[in-house]
Amino acid sequence: MGRFRIVYYDELDDVFQITILYYLSLGWPATPKVLEELRRNDDRYMPEFGMFAVDQDGTVMASVLLMEIPTKTLNGKLNVGGLNAVATRPGYHRRGVMTTLITRIHEYFMQHQLDYSFLTTAQSLGAHSMYEKLGYKDLMIRERAWKMAREPPLRYDEKIVVTKFQEENGSEIDKIFREATEGSCGFVYRPTNFLKARFGHSSEFAPEKKMRLAKRRDEISGYAYWESSSRVSACEEILALDKSSFVSLLADAEKRFRNKLLVIHCGGLSKREVDWLQSAGFHTGIQTYGTVVVDFLRGDTNLESIKSLFGVSKGLFRMGTWDST
Ligand SMILES: CC(C)(COP(=O)(O)OP(=O)(O)OC[C@H]1O[C@@H](n2cnc3c(N)ncnc32)[C@H](O)[C@@H]1OP(=O)(O)O)[C@@H](O)C(=O)NCCC(=O)NCCS
Repeated sequence: MGRFRIVYYDELDDVFQITILYYLSLGWPATPKVLEELRRNDDRYMPEFGMFAVDQDGTVMASVLLMEIPTKTLNGKLNVGGLNAVATRPGYHRRGVMTTLITRIHEYFMQHQLDYSFLTTAQSLGAHSMYEKLGYKDLMIRERAWKMAREPPLRYDEKIVVTKFQEENGSEIDKIFREATEGSCGFVYRPTNFLKARFGHSSEFAPEKKMRLAKRRDEISGYAYWESSSRVSACEEILALDKSSFVSLLADAEKRFRNKLLVIHCGGLSKREVDWLQSAGFHTGIQTYGTVVVDFLRGDTNLESIKSLFGVSKGLFRMGTWDST
């Protein structure tokens, strides 16, 4: 392996190199403007933003964006490191570049008192075996639930009305999230006005069109965000304060997306909501290739003790789609 430098984002000579790298490796043509917006809006990125391996001729060979994420454990709040946008440029694979870069990042995390490194990946990717070699273990396989939206429709509580989202509802979404995840563990700390802070810059994120609200006596009691294509409607996040509101949101989706496949991302749900899904006729426990992996950086990664620390064993762990690294 030739010599290369490891630098932070602000030390890069040509930031467009990242655009090419992400386009080639991740199919994500992130221009410097997109990257700056991410850095400004998503409070999880660390001040240095990213670490990169740069070849002697200035080519950016590999990249990782760096996150510091507050999590909730059964022992209280704990900040953890997060790896995002892990990519080695084609032509530079299998030379140990990413292994060297991540090993350096682990040192950086420890210098910042971050003892755990988390990331989301897929078991079907070659990357998964690289993470295993680096010491990462599977903490949680991400599950989905599904149902065909057919007759007979779900019955729901007539006291609950399901309506459209309006911009001024943003802070109420924060409140529902906080109350619904009370007592849970994992990735449950979010900034104020979360939707605006994390997605305000993204043209694809359209809560006015895709978010539905459950209301009980004019008070918002739940919400669900649906991404729909002609055959499938996938719910990225659904949370509610009570079972009737939750089921009303599902019934509303069955009515609006008649004859489509309804899919619910379950990473952000605890056992309580998965039970509600089951009671509404959804098939639950469907494993995907997606997995959350974790590495304890100051010693061996003892999966059982990490599972118990983060409440995984008790069904309390949450890492929703919007909280992924
Ligand atoms: C995954 C990726 C970052 C690996 O980068 P890399 O610089 O080639 O990784 P390394 O050379 O450090 O790999 C170290 C070890 O990991 C394993 N590994 C890496 N890529 C692998 C692959 N595609 N298939 C199987 N094992 C792989 C191997 O054991 C490898 O050691 P070896 O080459 O001696 O067999 C790179 O393939 C990539 O950018 N892929 C596309 C984007 C992606 O999948 N990113 C991860 C998202 S979670």
